[in-house]
Amino acid sequence: MSNDFKSDIIDLFSYKMGGHVQKYCYGGDARPDGTTGSKLWHDFVTAHEHYYPIRDEIASVPMLLANLGRRYDNIIDFGIGDEAAIRSKMIPILRLQEKLKYFTAIDFSRKSLDDSLGILRREMPEININGIQGDFYHTHKVKGSNRLGLLFGPNISNQDMMVGEKLPYGTIVERLGILASTVRGDASGHLVVSIDKIPDLRKALKAYEHPYWNSMMTGLAYDIQSKLKPEGDFSPSLWHYEPVLDQDNHVVQHTLAPSLDQNFTIDDYEFDIKKGEQFVVLNSFKFPLDLFMGMLEDAELSNNRIIANSNDHPMVFVESAV
Ligand SMILES: C[S@@+](CC[C@H](N)C(=O)[O-])C[C@H]1O[C@@H](n2cnc3c(N)ncnc32)[C@H](O)[C@@H]1O
Repeated sequence: MSNDFKSDIIDLFSYKMGGHVQKYCYGGDARPDGTTGSKLWHDFVTAHEHYYPIRDEIASVPMLLANLGRRYDNIIDFGIGDEAAIRSKMIPILRLQEKLKYFTAIDFSRKSLDDSLGILRREMPEININGIQGDFYHTHKVKGSNRLGLLFGPNISNQDMMVGEKLPYGTIVERLGILASTVRGDASGHLVVSIDKIPDLRKALKAYEHPYWNSMMTGLAYDIQSKLKPEGDFSPSLWHYEPVLDQDNHVVQHTLAPSLDQNFTIDDYEFDIKKGEQFVVLNSFKFPLDLFMGMLEDAELSNNRIIANSNDHPMVFVESAV
């Protein structure tokens, strides 16, 4: 990961991109305080009562199960996550299947793959379980002939965008097309994506007001220090978390900003960053349902339908044929 990490961080501090570094927030490398991204994510999701997306997805699982097909031979999990995700969402879906031979998980995080696939191997030894460590926004070749791809979490919310930019509609459409092509391969199947449709970003923000979320974001500054060893006065403890609400573009942006000027170099790149400048670590898009259905159509996915949507929860599952 180190070479990509370096160029991703250089792009971040050069204002070429924002949000693309979210993938490092869930990693398994220990920081000076002993935390890891994957453990912080797990602790955050389980400890914070206002973090609704995962809880609401789980609450909608019965509705999802009632509307899902039962004859898939491979289930592909884009971004596997932690034990809770496996036990409360994935295992019930796998158990529903009458013809299941394979389970394929694609995730950047080696630790999440090892931990969660270990649970699955113990719980469902009859299935052939494959882990692919990599980017699910690249097309991957997977087994089976009738496949179901799942993007939960809600991972589609994490898209690249800097502060002040417009919602990256075209990129999201392209990425939906990539996920569909992995699921389709040389056969066919369905893709189910969960989205967060909460309209009020102030309400949404409450979901992130927790010390573990802060540590997930500021942890990036410590990773930069330990992996890239910037020269100059880069000081991880001077970077703090600052959320930005952009209602027009339906996004809560999670940024890092220094509380004192930071002047440092990484390789030949010199950065002169002023107090208060904002760098986006992660975006949480909250998609209006009609906007998202339009994206699926523009990605040329067919039979797009909402398969679980409750008025009491902001989370919605949408299915497309691929
Ligand atoms: C927000 S968690 C969601 C996990 C799980 N699906 C759930 O329902 O809780 C994101 C997971 O997806 C992985 N991930 C995020 N973006 C990725 C990408 N582009 N390619 C591969 N893995 C990615 C992260 O490493 C992490 O394990």
